[in-house]
Amino acid sequence: MAAFKELVFSGVQPTGNLHLGNYLGAIRRFVEMQAREAQCLYCVVDMHAITVWQDPEALRGQIREVTAAFIAAGIDPKRSIVFNQSQVPQHAELAWVFNCVARLGWLNRMTQFKEKAGKDRENASIGLYDYPVLMAADILAYRATHVPVGEDQKQHLELTRDIAQKFNTDFGASITAQGHGEGFFPITEPIIGGPAARVMSLRDGTKKMSKSDPSDNSRINLTDDSDAIAQKIRRAKTDPEALPSEVAGLKERPEADNLVGIYAALAGTTREDVLREHGGAQFSAFKPALADLAVSSLAPIAAEMRRLSADPGHIEAVLADGAERAEAIAQETLDAVKDIVGFVRRKRG
Ligand code: TYM
Repeated sequence: MAAFKELVFSGVQPTGNLHLGNYLGAIRRFVEMQAREAQCLYCVVDMHAITVWQDPEALRGQIREVTAAFIAAGIDPKRSIVFNQSQVPQHAELAWVFNCVARLGWLNRMTQFKEKAGKDRENASIGLYDYPVLMAADILAYRATHVPVGEDQKQHLELTRDIAQKFNTDFGASITAQGHGEGFFPITEPIIGGPAARVMSLRDGTKKMSKSDPSDNSRINLTDDSDAIAQKIRRAKTDPEALPSEVAGLKERPEADNLVGIYAALAGTTREDVLREHGGAQFSAFKPALADLAVSSLAPIAAEMRRLSADPGHIEAVLADGAERAEAIAQETLDAVKDIVGFVRRKRG
């Protein structure tokens, strides 16, 4: 592999209903990262998806759909490595080692598990509980230095840093003895930010836009056509006031703040800039402007996704090529980890 200064990794679950939050909070930023001097790996995390029940036939389609969304949004599978997690067994292997590094107390603090498991925690899968450890393995199998994600992943990335740190400390002497210098795993930087790090529901500005919200009007799906996008924005909940002229005026106005944030992210500017232009406008004027911007940004992606989805053979070839390139990097890490931990490993070649 060519020597890059940065190694970027991120993942998206193939659980259906990719939405504007996934696009603005994550996928669009993946595309931006390609412009840096970095090797980028973008992974369809199918093993994470099955921590809750997935219909097998639907899952296969959803894996292809997320891959199509990556490419349609502008990820170049030649420049970046695009693959699905289950094709690279080193993720699961490293997750086991990390299961023996991470502490129960750390996982017990994970708020996303509490939210997803709900009241019936006894009935949640062990995979759902262990989800953040597999996520650490995804990232550290490539010793990634940067991980672009939405704000909801912040705690999981802190856990990744804790695992890397503890591994480096616990095995410090062995790491040095094996010739890896000081620390083996990097302390990964989360890349969270911009006006759309947390896109909220169009029906309730205090709730995150989510794949699992029962109301389809709460989110804009990446597969929505122009009419659906415009209609959902027209119907989005708002308050009766005009837009303020400064960001401070968005405080206590979650719906207005969300729509201004979405506009800023789609336009590639900031909330300040949007309010400079639209401050004082009523929603009856701002919503059509937002709808036009959303349609012109998203409709071409939806059209390209449809075009790519018509050729599943091509998508699968992209995934196979990506898996081969990803595995070559991950295997190097796993070989080193096995030596560091003290396993007797089969020598290759
Ligand atoms: P997933 O599939 O739930 O979400 C994919 C990405 O979309 C972001 N996101 C949002 N961003 C802004 N506003 C929203 N309303 C919104 N909803 C979702 C998420 O933050 C995420 O970046 N656990 C990860 C998948 C994963 C992963 C990894 C990510 C597995 N292994 C390793 C990074 C590195 C997740 O939640 O995916």
